[in-house]
Amino acid sequence: MKLLAVVGARPNFMKVAPILWEAKNHPDLDFFLVHTGQHYDRRMSQLFFEQLNLPRPDIDLGVGSGSHAAQTAEVMKRFEPVIQEHRPDVVLVVGDVNSTLACALTAVKLGCVVAHVEAGLRSFDRSMPEEINRVLTDQISRWLFVTEQSGLDNLQREGIAGDRVFFVGNVMIDTLLAFREKCEQSLILEDLGLKEKDYAVLTLHRPGAVDEPDILQGIISAIRRLQDELPIVFPVHPRTGKALNGQLGDSMPNLRLTEPLGYLDFMKLIVHARMVLTDSGGLQEETTFLGVPCLTLRNNTERPVTVEQGTNRLVGLDPDRIIEASMEVLSKPFAPRCIPPLWDGGTASRIVSILRREVQLEKGIGAHGLEANSKKIDWEATASSCPPKEFVF
Ligand code: UD1
Repeated sequence: MKLLAVVGARPNFMKVAPILWEAKNHPDLDFFLVHTGQHYDRRMSQLFFEQLNLPRPDIDLGVGSGSHAAQTAEVMKRFEPVIQEHRPDVVLVVGDVNSTLACALTAVKLGCVVAHVEAGLRSFDRSMPEEINRVLTDQISRWLFVTEQSGLDNLQREGIAGDRVFFVGNVMIDTLLAFREKCEQSLILEDLGLKEKDYAVLTLHRPGAVDEPDILQGIISAIRRLQDELPIVFPVHPRTGKALNGQLGDSMPNLRLTEPLGYLDFMKLIVHARMVLTDSGGLQEETTFLGVPCLTLRNNTERPVTVEQGTNRLVGLDPDRIIEASMEVLSKPFAPRCIPPLWDGGTASRIVSILRREVQLEKGIGAHGLEANSKKIDWEATASSCPPKEFVF
């Protein structure tokens, strides 16, 4: 079986890594890695390959930045000959970045089977580029691997056949568990002069938060107030760095600006943080798993399980609300909530076993001895669909 996996942007690397480690356990599995080059700075890409034991990509398409149309089109143009030359049995895409959709679309148009990891998540906010990428990628993928119940509900509502859908858990948690001990060796707390549970971590990169100067100024005013209470570490994404254009300067003594951090330093910071403020998707899940309070600076989430069962609260972008919610977190001891089902470190193994079985069945050669350890979804047998929810904090 020839499995071609695609990575493009930072959040893809920790999702593909455990699948690749698992694939190595199966000599019959020929694994081929393509990097689109959507992210290209060393700290946004290469550093993650080094830290997560990812091999050098077999092919780097070197696409780089551009408008959505230009970036998506360029990935498609450069990916097409790769598919034509290598004819994989499965093209595996993860997450919701432009590279995910571009490669899925290119592959299906050439008659290739696509598998989507992290399928079914919906924010119901079509102004987010990721939402468009998610909806379209799910529609054209043959096999959809789902992290949480809402993903199953959404796919059923969108008319996806249950025999294409598998509830497997969360690959990012596989990576977190695999590296938890190694993260502890990071000296980032000492380097930044921080004490455990006595600082906050801020991340910000979404166009909705950083590309609107008024909104960005509002967030900065909330951070100015919050850093009076405790140190705040802010690893600055390149997009955010450009929008800020040096304007944070020295005006906030308790704000520690850093360059984008590698996986090990960053996860050490998150594990020991008193709280996290973020507009990231993945961080909502990692904090839920770790039992760290997370305030999400958005009005919606495509990962509702992190609010229903986990540690996440949606606070939007209003500075007063951000401050009020932060003070509430700081004022009381925090009781960790549940870890969602199947966020257990075994997700990549489920995915690989399902793929091996399904590809063999597709090829008509049977799947003897390949009992996958996760079943196809029978919609009739699962809980009925839930309507989209709005969360108000
Ligand atoms: C992308 C994803 C987003 C994901 C995020 C994680 C899309 C639509 N968005 O957003 O879902 O959460 O990655 O970081 O796919 N830049 C650099 N160096 C780099 C990469 C980018 O300087 O290595 C700068 C460029 O000026 C670029 C800008 O950052 O124009 C934005 O990069 P882009 O890949 O378009 O989107 P992200 O905001 O990173």
